[in-house]
Amino acid sequence: MAKKTASASKPAKPASAPKKTAQATWGGRFSEGTAELMLRFSESVSFDKRLAPFDIQGSKAQSAMLAKVGIITARERDEIHAGLDQILKEIEAGKFEWKIELEDVHMNIEHALKQRVPAAAKLHTARSRNDQVATDMRLFFRDAAIRIHAALTALIAEIVEQAEKSQEVYIPGYTHLQRAQPVSVAHHLLAYAEMFGRDRERFAIFHDGANISPLGSGAIAGTTLPIDREFSAKHMGFVDEKGAARVTQNSMDAVADRDLFIEFASACALVGTHFSRVGEDLILWSSSEFGFAVMPDAFTTGSSLMPQKKNPDSLELLRGKAARLQGNLNTLFTLAKGLPLTYNRDLQEDKPPVFDSLDTTLICLDVLRETLAGMKLRPERCAAAVADPLLLATDLADYLVRQGVPFRDAHHLVGAAVALAEKTGTPLNKLPHAEMQKISPSYKADWVSVFDLPTAMRSRERTGMPGPKQVKAQIARWKKELAK
Ligand code: ARG
Repeated sequence: MAKKTASASKPAKPASAPKKTAQATWGGRFSEGTAELMLRFSESVSFDKRLAPFDIQGSKAQSAMLAKVGIITARERDEIHAGLDQILKEIEAGKFEWKIELEDVHMNIEHALKQRVPAAAKLHTARSRNDQVATDMRLFFRDAAIRIHAALTALIAEIVEQAEKSQEVYIPGYTHLQRAQPVSVAHHLLAYAEMFGRDRERFAIFHDGANISPLGSGAIAGTTLPIDREFSAKHMGFVDEKGAARVTQNSMDAVADRDLFIEFASACALVGTHFSRVGEDLILWSSSEFGFAVMPDAFTTGSSLMPQKKNPDSLELLRGKAARLQGNLNTLFTLAKGLPLTYNRDLQEDKPPVFDSLDTTLICLDVLRETLAGMKLRPERCAAAVADPLLLATDLADYLVRQGVPFRDAHHLVGAAVALAEKTGTPLNKLPHAEMQKISPSYKADWVSVFDLPTAMRSRERTGMPGPKQVKAQIARWKKELAK
């Protein structure tokens, strides 16, 4: 800190000193340039440059449409396309020079194009950055939905594979984190497949909602030029199943709407909530107290102080990332709330939370998949936990129902047996038959047969239940579903 550099000792220019020349893109009515501080404050290229492939796709559609309606020539279109292709290559190779004084991805690319292709000056005809950014984001959202959908498919496939291997390992299922009824580990894991399956469906629906072209809405009120919105929509694949163009129906809504941003962040936040619940279950399972499973070394960490520790960090972070995903949703809700129609610069803040939700969701999906792939069950610990006869107390009530006892009474009669077991320190299934008879003559000689776990599981074979045949059928259903 004490070291003084030559430049640091020079009197500093005020950070907000305006540049002498006005900004090229809109500079016509300005006599002074943008302040340096304002440039740093307002630039978005540092984060929206990742939209470049979509921005270029949109510009190609725009120029193809301009040529189609005769606003530019076919030759100008081809020059623009070739220039854009070249720019994309440079961007992909990391050779493109992004400039913050050009503010955002749109102006950086257009500026670079103008330096190469004279016709570039015609590209922005009948287009505003308002419909341009809306178009870029819809292209981005389509791609993001496909990527998350694929990652969810891979995760569900892993869950199903783990379920296949754990059909005969039984554990207590919990309500209120108290032992409730026995389930197979497979049945428990398949509950996660259902959660992530709904997420997968949500992203498919989201993809359909994103698949509509806003291009041609202009800044707010379209254009007086004879554009063909359907043509540019088709060029970008914004079409229905029959190949008909899908375009937004109100130019003001098209540039002001941020519903998709909120829907995307919401779908990601919900995936995050699912991460957090799976994460929490597996953290419990890998504790000494539960001991149902051991997490892979590659996704756990040790302690710098306590040599015995193996911490389930990947799962804890999955639980933690859920907060971040919810935060992004909250940012977007707050950003859009109360904004007057149509575009307001506030909306530039819509991108960082969306990008973060995509990146966070994708990495979490991979981490959870790999953590699950490396998880090892401890069947002996599972067996010890599930041997608790109290887990079948409800089955005993069902037994009484089969003897004709109304369920409310049966519940009470089993409750009395549980109380006796607790009072005498006897396991429920070891209570003397005579004592059970005293509680109710409906406890016939075979009441104890209820406590055979395989029989108990085989008695739950209706749709959605944890019976072994049903679980097998669910695994088969998922495999078919994922192969579609
Ligand atoms: N970078 C801007 C954004 O992301 C693009 C739209 C700018 N439009 C404008 N009228 N300043 O919101």
